[in-house]
Amino acid sequence: MSDSMVQASEERKTGSGPARNAAVRSRPVRPRGLSGAVDVPGDKSISHRAIIMGGLAVGETKIEGLLEGEDVHRTAAALRALGADVRRHGAGSWSVRGCGVGGFGEPDDVLEMGNSGTAARLLLGAVASTRLTAFFTGDASLRSRPMQRVVDPLSQMGARFLSRGGSRLPLAIVGAADPVPIEYRPPVASAQVKSAVLLAGLNCPGRTTVVEPHPTRDHTERMLRHFGATLTVADEDGGRRITLEGQPELEGREVVVPGDPSSAAFPLVAALIVPGSEITLRNVGLNPGRAGLFETLAEMGADITMTDRRDAGGEPVADLVVRAGRLRGVDVPAERAPSMIDEYPILAVAAAVAEGRTRMRGLAELRVKESDRLGGMAEGLAACGVAVAVEGDDLIVDGGRRIAGGATIRSRLDHRIAMAFLTLGMAAEEAVSVDDASPIATSFPGFASLMNGLGAAIEGV
Ligand code: S3P
Repeated sequence: MSDSMVQASEERKTGSGPARNAAVRSRPVRPRGLSGAVDVPGDKSISHRAIIMGGLAVGETKIEGLLEGEDVHRTAAALRALGADVRRHGAGSWSVRGCGVGGFGEPDDVLEMGNSGTAARLLLGAVASTRLTAFFTGDASLRSRPMQRVVDPLSQMGARFLSRGGSRLPLAIVGAADPVPIEYRPPVASAQVKSAVLLAGLNCPGRTTVVEPHPTRDHTERMLRHFGATLTVADEDGGRRITLEGQPELEGREVVVPGDPSSAAFPLVAALIVPGSEITLRNVGLNPGRAGLFETLAEMGADITMTDRRDAGGEPVADLVVRAGRLRGVDVPAERAPSMIDEYPILAVAAAVAEGRTRMRGLAELRVKESDRLGGMAEGLAACGVAVAVEGDDLIVDGGRRIAGGATIRSRLDHRIAMAFLTLGMAAEEAVSVDDASPIATSFPGFASLMNGLGAAIEGV
């Protein structure tokens, strides 16, 4: 991590306020629109998993296209502390020499997860079935997020925890000396919970099963197979039953990380809402468990052409050609939420421009992301002059009217809130500012320069 990244994330961690000079402003883009072709950064979910599985494998794993954001650096540092040899060879090019399943050593210091819920929950799973004691903490955002959802199943598997109220970080985990495989039905649709149980199941004798109520992203399942684990997946009552054979020997592999659809979503929506735009986004991951935004935008009338569909490292990818045009409001069903859970902030921005009402249903999980995204989007959109309401767990946006902008939005330690409002600024009448844009480095380093290269006007204030 660079010194400025460390400083920014340390300031966030200690809650000492926004990193200095981290406020930025996004001015309206007129009259030419956005244009050009770009690669979006590597997929965050897949990058975490590539390093973790590399650390659990025997031999060398080579990774290309790794996301070099703060969150993934946290996972890399944790794997080093657990005994893996994690090296960077060049931009996005990394290798991991792992410890083998059950081979992690006890870390001699606290594992700092920064802003990353994925790092925290997956790594708790990965260490839960190994006889060691580890301490986990994170920044002010992560320390407020629920960990009970992984503590429950991992306790059933034999791990013990010591934590403060609500099982929030900081917490200590004592991995099970004699781990037991379980069959677990997560009460919430969560790829992180599923992944934590499966990773813990690796060092259990026998079969570990997760029955998920709604299918969630399946990067863990794909990658476990890629590394040599035996896994069966069957449809069950609209969800999925996933069974892992315990104690496999995972072998180091090559992993090619596709571009992150959740990061691509920001330039994509920017090009849709700034009149006159036409851009190309190369190598965007299209895992069906991540594709809800594309489905929703198609219903809204978005002009997106997917070209050169192909396979990259076991994941479907394509290049996307995106053109601005009229969008219309839609009703987004709650069942779609797991496949676009990270995309609601930017969808709400598209909805502000679309004509008519967009109702996004069943967003309870948004309240426990890096910030309360339901509250944050409603507050920020209203401050920009957009007609917005929260009814129960639904977000309702009446779009197509004048978007005044001219507001400063609190990013709340949340990268996607920051990027969503900087995108809105491109289509508003007055610039939109974000008080602290430093969290963007967790998932999309270089966001402002990539957007400005396409013709946006994002600047420090
Ligand atoms: C992720 C799963 C999602 C998502 C997060 C990444 C993953 O969280 O919001 O950004 O990599 O498994 P939940 O599983 O909590 O929904």
